[in-house]
Amino acid sequence: MQKIEPKAAALAERYGSDAIPAAGPWNEVVASLLTHRSVRGYVPTPVPKGTLETMIAAAQSAATSSNLQTWSVVAVNDPATRAEFAKIANNQQHIVECPVFLAFCADISRNERMAAVEGTKLEALPYVETFLVAAIDAALAAQNAVVAAESLGLSTVYIGAMRNNVQRVAELLALPPGVVCVFGLCVGYPKPGAESSVKPRLAQPAILFHERYDASRDEAHRKAYDAALSRYSKAHEMSQYTWTERVLNRMGPIKSMSGRDKLKAALQALGFRLD
Ligand SMILES: Cc1cc2nc3c(=O)[nH]c(=O)nc-3n(C[C@H](O)[C@H](O)[C@H](O)COP(=O)(O)O)c2cc1C
Repeated sequence: MQKIEPKAAALAERYGSDAIPAAGPWNEVVASLLTHRSVRGYVPTPVPKGTLETMIAAAQSAATSSNLQTWSVVAVNDPATRAEFAKIANNQQHIVECPVFLAFCADISRNERMAAVEGTKLEALPYVETFLVAAIDAALAAQNAVVAAESLGLSTVYIGAMRNNVQRVAELLALPPGVVCVFGLCVGYPKPGAESSVKPRLAQPAILFHERYDASRDEAHRKAYDAALSRYSKAHEMSQYTWTERVLNRMGPIKSMSGRDKLKAALQALGFRLD
């Protein structure tokens, strides 16, 4: 297990000491969740035997929409494939370094094959709804895998940048039509210095509403969080930035999408009609 902070300390790390929520019940699972931090640098030390299978058992234990189980995962070891993934993901070297790399896929092909064998057609397959079901299933499964890995003392980072070129990723993984890698996941042990601190989040009242949505305090929450993230980035990252700068840089220019602005056409080419 990672070091488990007592409740008050864990909440202070997550929210800053000015914005500690009145959290009640607490246990080791919650404590472990609150220590999450993404890690972007790994040593080659292999994970203990059976770790992948334990993570996947956790992943398959997640809820899945109507028990359709519309997701799959490909564990990728081949260095050449990993190197190409890293290139697709704007040179994220942790994809090459980590001992376990998982490509999580939205997968409607298995159910389509079932229907073909049964001599019938699934009329719901071509809809946006079905793609969303599959993508949500994959995300819930992956997060269970992450929670399991972190509880075993491993570190992780998601790789959404796999969507920079879903068609090339599909070729490299021999994905059939109706399967798309929606994100990757690096798993392993951090390089010295790569394990940063817990990254603060927005204060709870910025995202937790009661009965009705309420944006009236947005600006106050943004100001406070800008200051918190600025302090965090100065201490733990290569450059100092506020949350406002981060959001405007990441969502402002189309070029920041690194090709993902063409995702709809790419998904359609992979067999998701998105009606
Ligand atoms: C779906 C998804 C995709 C992500 N893709 C990347 C990625 O491609 N590269 C990366 O370094 N981090 C990626 N991240 C990690 C986020 O940047 C990170 O979770 C966020 O900055 C909060 O930091 P923390 O996880 O350390 O709390 C991704 C996270 C999610 C949930």
